[in-house]
Amino acid sequence: MPNSSVQIRLMQAADLEAVVRIDGKILGTPRSEYFEMKFEVLFESSDCLPTSLVAEDASGAVVGFVMGTLYMGEFGIYQEQATLDTIGVDPEYQKKGIGEQLVGEFVAHLKSLGVKKLSTLVDTDDAKLMHFFGANRFVPSKIVNLERRL
Ligand SMILES: CC(C)(COP(=O)(O)OP(=O)(O)OC[C@H]1O[C@@H](n2cnc3c(N)ncnc32)[C@H](O)[C@@H]1OP(=O)(O)O)[C@@H](O)C(=O)NCCC(=O)NCCS
Repeated sequence: MPNSSVQIRLMQAADLEAVVRIDGKILGTPRSEYFEMKFEVLFESSDCLPTSLVAEDASGAVVGFVMGTLYMGEFGIYQEQATLDTIGVDPEYQKKGIGEQLVGEFVAHLKSLGVKKLSTLVDTDDAKLMHFFGANRFVPSKIVNLERRL
Protein backbone atom coordinates (compact mmCIF):
# COMPACT_ATOMS: atom_id res chain seq x y z
CA MET A 1 0.00 0.00 0.00
CA PRO A 2 1.47 3.42 -0.90
CA ASN A 3 2.76 5.40 2.05
CA SER A 4 0.90 8.69 1.68
CA SER A 5 3.42 10.70 3.74
CA VAL A 6 6.22 9.81 1.31
CA GLN A 7 6.84 11.43 -2.07
CA ILE A 8 8.89 9.74 -4.76
CA ARG A 9 10.93 11.93 -7.12
CA LEU A 10 13.83 11.59 -9.56
CA MET A 11 17.23 11.49 -7.89
CA GLN A 12 19.39 14.59 -8.25
CA ALA A 13 23.15 15.03 -7.97
CA ALA A 14 22.57 16.86 -4.65
CA ASP A 15 21.12 13.65 -3.13
CA LEU A 16 24.58 12.06 -2.89
CA GLU A 17 25.03 12.88 0.80
CA ALA A 18 21.62 11.45 1.77
CA VAL A 19 22.22 8.25 -0.23
CA VAL A 20 25.65 7.75 1.39
CA ARG A 21 24.08 8.36 4.84
CA ILE A 22 21.26 5.83 4.33
CA ASP A 23 23.52 3.18 2.79
CA GLY A 24 26.01 3.74 5.65
CA LYS A 25 23.23 3.20 8.22
CA ILE A 26 22.27 -0.06 6.48
CA LEU A 27 25.77 -1.47 6.02
CA GLY A 28 27.45 0.09 9.06
CA THR A 29 30.22 1.67 6.94
CA PRO A 30 29.85 4.64 4.60
CA ARG A 31 30.76 3.96 0.95
CA SER A 32 31.34 7.57 -0.12
CA GLU A 33 33.78 6.86 -2.96
CA TYR A 34 31.61 4.10 -4.41
CA PHE A 35 28.57 6.40 -4.58
CA GLU A 36 30.60 9.37 -5.83
CA MET A 37 31.64 7.16 -8.75
CA LYS A 38 28.09 5.94 -9.36
CA PHE A 39 26.70 9.49 -9.26
CA GLU A 40 29.35 10.62 -11.73
CA VAL A 41 28.24 7.94 -14.22
CA LEU A 42 24.55 8.67 -13.61
CA PHE A 43 24.70 12.43 -13.87
CA GLU A 44 27.55 13.03 -16.27
CA SER A 45 27.15 10.30 -18.91
CA SER A 46 25.01 11.32 -21.86
CA ASP A 47 24.33 7.61 -22.66
CA CYS A 48 22.70 6.97 -19.31
CA LEU A 49 19.05 7.95 -18.86
CA PRO A 50 17.90 9.30 -15.46
CA THR A 51 15.87 6.55 -13.80
CA SER A 52 17.05 6.59 -10.19
CA LEU A 53 14.54 7.74 -7.58
CA VAL A 54 14.46 8.89 -3.98
CA ALA A 55 11.69 8.83 -1.37
CA GLU A 56 11.20 11.98 0.70
CA ASP A 57 9.26 12.20 3.94
CA ALA A 58 6.81 15.03 4.69
CA SER A 59 9.68 17.30 5.83
CA GLY A 60 11.58 16.77 2.56
CA ALA A 61 14.22 14.48 4.11
CA VAL A 62 15.40 11.64 1.86
CA VAL A 63 14.54 8.32 3.53
CA GLY A 64 15.08 5.84 0.70
CA PHE A 65 16.44 5.44 -2.78
CA VAL A 66 16.59 3.12 -5.75
CA MET A 67 19.35 3.40 -8.33
CA GLY A 68 19.09 1.97 -11.79
CA THR A 69 20.78 2.06 -15.14
CA LEU A 70 19.19 2.40 -18.53
CA TYR A 71 21.53 2.95 -21.42
CA MET A 72 20.77 4.48 -24.75
CA GLY A 73 21.02 1.76 -27.42
CA GLU A 74 21.72 2.08 -31.12
CA PHE A 75 20.03 4.85 -33.11
CA GLY A 76 19.24 6.79 -29.93
CA ILE A 77 16.58 4.30 -28.83
CA TYR A 78 16.51 3.25 -25.18
CA GLN A 79 17.48 -0.35 -24.51
CA GLU A 80 14.67 -2.77 -23.64
CA GLN A 81 16.42 -4.01 -20.52
CA ALA A 82 17.36 -1.99 -17.45
CA THR A 83 19.06 -2.87 -14.19
CA LEU A 84 18.17 -2.10 -10.62
CA ASP A 85 21.64 -1.56 -9.16
CA THR A 86 20.91 -0.81 -5.54
CA ILE A 87 18.02 -0.04 -3.21
CA GLY A 88 18.02 1.20 0.35
CA VAL A 89 15.49 2.46 2.88
CA ASP A 90 16.62 4.17 6.09
CA PRO A 91 16.34 1.46 8.80
CA GLU A 92 14.12 3.81 10.87
CA TYR A 93 11.65 3.97 7.96
CA GLN A 94 11.63 0.32 6.87
CA LYS A 95 8.52 -1.88 6.89
CA LYS A 96 6.22 1.00 5.98
CA GLY A 97 5.88 0.15 2.29
CA ILE A 98 8.49 2.66 1.09
CA GLY A 99 10.65 -0.03 -0.60
CA GLU A 100 7.59 -1.34 -2.45
CA GLN A 101 6.62 2.18 -3.47
CA LEU A 102 10.14 2.89 -4.80
CA VAL A 103 10.14 -0.32 -6.87
CA GLY A 104 6.59 0.35 -8.11
CA GLU A 105 7.40 3.87 -9.32
CA PHE A 106 10.75 2.75 -10.73
CA VAL A 107 9.00 0.03 -12.77
CA ALA A 108 6.25 2.40 -13.95
CA HIS A 109 8.83 4.96 -15.06
CA LEU A 110 10.86 2.34 -16.97
CA LYS A 111 7.70 0.93 -18.59
CA SER A 112 6.81 4.40 -19.84
CA LEU A 113 10.25 4.52 -21.51
CA GLY A 114 9.58 1.21 -23.31
CA VAL A 115 11.68 -1.03 -21.07
CA LYS A 116 10.53 -4.66 -21.16
CA LYS A 117 12.73 -6.29 -18.55
CA LEU A 118 14.34 -5.24 -15.28
CA SER A 119 17.12 -7.27 -13.68
CA THR A 120 19.07 -7.12 -10.46
CA LEU A 121 21.72 -9.17 -8.67
CA VAL A 122 21.07 -10.46 -5.17
CA ASP A 123 23.14 -12.71 -2.94
CA THR A 124 20.91 -15.76 -2.39
CA ASP A 125 22.19 -15.88 1.22
CA ASP A 126 20.56 -12.48 1.83
CA ALA A 127 17.18 -13.88 2.85
CA LYS A 128 15.65 -10.45 3.58
CA LEU A 129 16.51 -9.00 0.17
CA MET A 130 15.55 -12.24 -1.65
CA HIS A 131 12.17 -12.11 0.12
CA PHE A 132 11.69 -8.41 -0.72
CA PHE A 133 12.37 -8.89 -4.44
CA GLY A 134 10.20 -12.04 -4.55
CA ALA A 135 7.35 -10.07 -2.95
CA ASN A 136 7.88 -7.41 -5.64
CA ARG A 137 7.46 -9.97 -8.46
CA PHE A 138 11.10 -10.60 -9.33
CA VAL A 139 11.82 -14.24 -10.24
CA PRO A 140 15.14 -16.09 -10.68
CA SER A 141 16.57 -15.58 -14.15
CA LYS A 142 17.74 -18.36 -16.49
CA ILE A 143 21.05 -16.51 -16.81
CA VAL A 144 23.49 -17.63 -14.15
CA ASN A 145 26.21 -15.37 -12.81
CA LEU A 146 29.43 -17.44 -13.20
CA GLU A 147 32.57 -16.71 -11.23
CA ARG A 148 36.09 -18.09 -10.87
CA ARG A 149 38.34 -17.63 -7.86
CA LEU A 150 41.72 -16.06 -8.71
C1 LIG B 1 14.90 -4.33 1.24
C2 LIG B 1 14.44 -2.93 1.65
C3 LIG B 1 14.73 -1.95 0.52
C4 LIG B 1 12.92 -2.99 1.91
O1 LIG B 1 12.47 -1.66 2.23
P1 LIG B 1 11.11 -1.44 3.05
O2 LIG B 1 10.73 -0.04 2.91
O3 LIG B 1 11.27 -1.98 4.42
O4 LIG B 1 10.14 -2.38 2.21
P2 LIG B 1 8.55 -2.55 2.38
O5 LIG B 1 8.10 -1.80 3.59
O6 LIG B 1 7.93 -2.25 1.09
O7 LIG B 1 8.40 -4.10 2.63
C5 LIG B 1 9.10 -4.74 3.68
C6 LIG B 1 8.13 -5.44 4.62
O8 LIG B 1 7.36 -4.49 5.35
C7 LIG B 1 5.97 -4.85 5.26
N1 LIG B 1 5.17 -3.64 5.38
C8 LIG B 1 4.95 -2.71 4.43
N2 LIG B 1 4.14 -1.74 4.93
C9 LIG B 1 3.88 -2.06 6.21
C10 LIG B 1 3.15 -1.46 7.24
N3 LIG B 1 2.49 -0.30 7.04
N4 LIG B 1 3.12 -2.05 8.44
C11 LIG B 1 3.76 -3.21 8.67
N5 LIG B 1 4.49 -3.85 7.74
C12 LIG B 1 4.54 -3.27 6.52
C13 LIG B 1 5.88 -5.49 3.91
O9 LIG B 1 4.72 -6.28 3.76
C14 LIG B 1 7.11 -6.32 3.93
O10 LIG B 1 6.88 -7.42 4.81
P3 LIG B 1 7.44 -8.84 4.52
O11 LIG B 1 8.94 -8.69 4.58
O12 LIG B 1 6.90 -9.67 5.62
O13 LIG B 1 6.94 -9.19 3.16
C15 LIG B 1 15.11 -2.48 2.96
O14 LIG B 1 14.93 -3.48 3.93
C16 LIG B 1 16.60 -2.22 2.81
O15 LIG B 1 17.01 -1.11 2.51
N6 LIG B 1 17.37 -3.28 3.01
C17 LIG B 1 18.81 -3.19 2.82
C18 LIG B 1 19.13 -3.34 1.36
C19 LIG B 1 20.58 -3.40 1.15
O16 LIG B 1 21.24 -4.27 1.71
N7 LIG B 1 21.09 -2.44 0.37
C20 LIG B 1 22.48 -2.27 0.16
C21 LIG B 1 23.04 -3.10 -0.94
S1 LIG B 1 22.04 -3.23 -2.37
